Amino acid sequence: MADGARIAAEARDRAYSTPLEDFHVGDPELFRTDTHWPWFERLRAEDPVHYCKASPFGPYWSVTRFEDIVAVDGDHNTFSSASDRGGIALGDSFEDPAGASFISQDSPRHEAQRKVVTPMFTSGAMMGMEPLIRSRAAAILDELPRGETFDFVDKVSVELTAQMLATLMDFPFEERRLLPRASDLLLAAPILGGGSPAGEPARQAELMATFGRLVGIFAERAASPRNDDLISMLAHDPATNGGGDPYKFVGNLVLLIVAGSDTTRHSITGGLLALNENPDQYAKLRADPGLIGGMIPEIIRYQSPVAHMRRTAMADAQIGGKTIKAGEKVVMWYVSGNRDASAIETPDAFIIDRERPRQHVAFGFGVHRCVGQRLAEMQLRVVWEEMMKRFPLIEVVGEPRRLTSNFVKGYEYLPVRIPK
Ligand code: HEM
Repeated sequence: MADGARIAAEARDRAYSTPLEDFHVGDPELFRTDTHWPWFERLRAEDPVHYCKASPFGPYWSVTRFEDIVAVDGDHNTFSSASDRGGIALGDSFEDPAGASFISQDSPRHEAQRKVVTPMFTSGAMMGMEPLIRSRAAAILDELPRGETFDFVDKVSVELTAQMLATLMDFPFEERRLLPRASDLLLAAPILGGGSPAGEPARQAELMATFGRLVGIFAERAASPRNDDLISMLAHDPATNGGGDPYKFVGNLVLLIVAGSDTTRHSITGGLLALNENPDQYAKLRADPGLIGGMIPEIIRYQSPVAHMRRTAMADAQIGGKTIKAGEKVVMWYVSGNRDASAIETPDAFIIDRERPRQHVAFGFGVHRCVGQRLAEMQLRVVWEEMMKRFPLIEVVGEPRRLTSNFVKGYEYLPVRIPK
């Protein structure tokens, strides 16, 4: 048996022989090894709203079915995102609300701050940005080596998203790699189940230095006339400029960096991997590149780069027949909802021309639904259009190395080769 098939079979045996009461699906190892699938499959079938009574992240509920995820995400009055209640990830991060980004806030502060950035994500704004994003993507792809193995994550996914985010923020172009680096450093935090090879003190020191640079750029933008880039928008609006206090505004900047770079980055890599694992779909795409538009939401569903969002119950609530008590932690596993056969036909199959490709919860639901959805889809469409123009095939030539994270589901490394 090939290694991958053996690992998957062993994971299935373990998932189906472990008592449900011992399930801890938030174990970051399950994501590093890509073996979470049978665990979620069993929960959806046998205990879709599951209580884990003890884990390194404390006790928590797992909501694993599509419909129940929509119910929790849609009820922001009962299920809070607030940073002072523990925030939006399985690992608690109790932050002072004054410094928290709007994803970790409830009404009315959430809406007031979200409103500041929404003009950046309208269809008009997207159309305005597309030509520059396309020309930058084209330049990166034109430089790729042929006939030799290289890391697709570093050379394509990270570079493209760094450039796209730098475009959106009008960030100093030569410093663009600071953006994905900041994101990597944040996601390596122990509360997110990550880990840093250089050790925790080194991670924190580098993170502080990176924040220092971001604060400097924000201050420069605040001191200049208002412009239409994301940093300027945040720096000039009283709802988000923190009255000039870096501690109060850096949260939103960091939110946009993480939300805007990681998700798209891992969807680019995940899409290439899915096409290589499903050569019939790759062939279909080559025969008709017009399918790219529908393929993009399918890639996002299949990858689910945000594995979960967490809430804290403000009052007792019934979800899927279970009683969740006030104060308890509730994790919505988008990665599982997107494989729920009661909502999505043949959910484990990657089908680039499925009938309802937008039937997924990868962007969440309700008032916190992803504000960057249109941008993400446009970026991915442009990247795939430019890739298909140049390369009928980018071949994956080895195993991917995946992130050790239960929060962002993605890749550190993917070896590929473009035939000469
Ligand atoms: C929120 C997914 C790309 C900015 C979210 C949420 C998810 C998500 C699951 C939380 C939704 C909820 O709690 O209901 C994704 C995926 C992406 C993507 C899968 C790409 C494939 C982007 C991009 C940006 C962005 C490109 C911006 C540059 C945000 C922001 C929020 C958010 C600011 C917070 C919204 C709020 O709290 O009101 N995203 N995202 N995202 N996303 Fe995205």
